[in-house]
Amino acid sequence: SDAFEILLLPGDGIGPEVVAAATRVLDAAAGRFGLELRYEERRIGATAIREEGAPVSEETLRRAGEADAVLLGAVGDPEFDGGKVRPEAGLLALRRVLGTFANLRPVAAVPALSGSSPLRARLVEGVDLLIVRELTGGAYFGEKEEGEERASDLSVYTRGEVERVARVAFEAARGRRGRVASVDKANVLATSRLWRRTVEEVARDYPDVALEHVLVDAAAMHLVTNPGRFDVILTENLFGDILSDEAAVLPGSMGMLPSASLGEPGSPGIFEPVHGSAPDIAGKGVANPYATILSAAMMLRYGLGRPEAAEAIERGVSAAVEAGYLTPDLGGSSDTEEVAEAVVRRVTAEEGAA
Ligand code: NAD
Ligand code: IPM
Ligand code: MN
Repeated sequence: SDAFEILLLPGDGIGPEVVAAATRVLDAAAGRFGLELRYEERRIGATAIREEGAPVSEETLRRAGEADAVLLGAVGDPEFDGGKVRPEAGLLALRRVLGTFANLRPVAAVPALSGSSPLRARLVEGVDLLIVRELTGGAYFGEKEEGEERASDLSVYTRGEVERVARVAFEAARGRRGRVASVDKANVLATSRLWRRTVEEVARDYPDVALEHVLVDAAAMHLVTNPGRFDVILTENLFGDILSDEAAVLPGSMGMLPSASLGEPGSPGIFEPVHGSAPDIAGKGVANPYATILSAAMMLRYGLGRPEAAEAIERGVSAAVEAGYLTPDLGGSSDTEEVAEAVVRRVTAEEGAA
């Protein structure tokens, strides 16, 4: 059927502002493509701690499991920095419960934005890469110890965990330029050596895909000195977190990077911008909504199986960017709502034009 249940988790800071922008665009796409999107909105993060006593409630986790997809804004609030209960724990619990082990973070240079990147235009031109970040393992989810004098975060990976996310990366490479760069720290870490061995094994099933291994320190350098060398970057949870923020300098702002967090086929994905709650600009109405709007497009493609609606949103975003609808992070003076409206008009107007 063409009716879908979407759980909205706007969260904290700029989260509600960018999710509101994205649902306006989704509604425009739904109208055009005859989809019925039914939204339920719930709390996560600092707002959930304040109102419900926990960063995500059992009921919200249950509703997430029943939804067709989850669209999330951001979590995090300086009020809880250093506290015992953290807003971020809500997002981690959600990822764990939904089993979203593969986080797809596409990074593409936008010609109209080449002036927004601190890098030379010739380095950024034509960049089109996909970070496949493992999302439910490693140091994030290992056993923790937090004492006054000693703390530890155990980083564990199993062969199965590496294999399933590696397959996602190789499959993605097949539909792109056929190259996977697996990023690890195999010269030091045991988990990375297991990672590398496992990725080598998976690669045998994909003789048409070229695999290289890159150590994470060198990869961090290549990402800003020669980003064009990358097609698919496959990496573990913590490295992927760090490299994806670094990759935001390619389009020029955190506000441009969307993501899809996917689990086993049939289980709901989480569609979330790469950026955080941006407390420094929250409540001002100037947050860049493109990352969340593009995450909504990924939701239509990967979560709801409606690629034509996803593409209409992506074309609407490109056209709005080219027309100069840019928020201050990109050097422009548009506000969040103006950007959302500019995309809505383009998604809607295409109807007659196309
Ligand atoms: P951040 O991504 O929130 O902000 C980093 C910088 O980028 C800030 O200067 C911010 O203003 C800017 N920025 C980010 N998104 C923007 C947007 N859409 N438009 C315009 N500018 C944008 O990272 P941070 O400041 O390190 O973290 C703030 C809080 O967010 C922390 O509590 C952190 O834990 C949380 N966080 C949450 C997520 C998530 O929910 N997925 C991701 C990252 C950080
Ligand atoms: C992200 C965020 C999260 C992460 C935090 C908020 C738990 O930084 O989605 O990139 O580290 O995964
Ligand atoms: Mn991050």
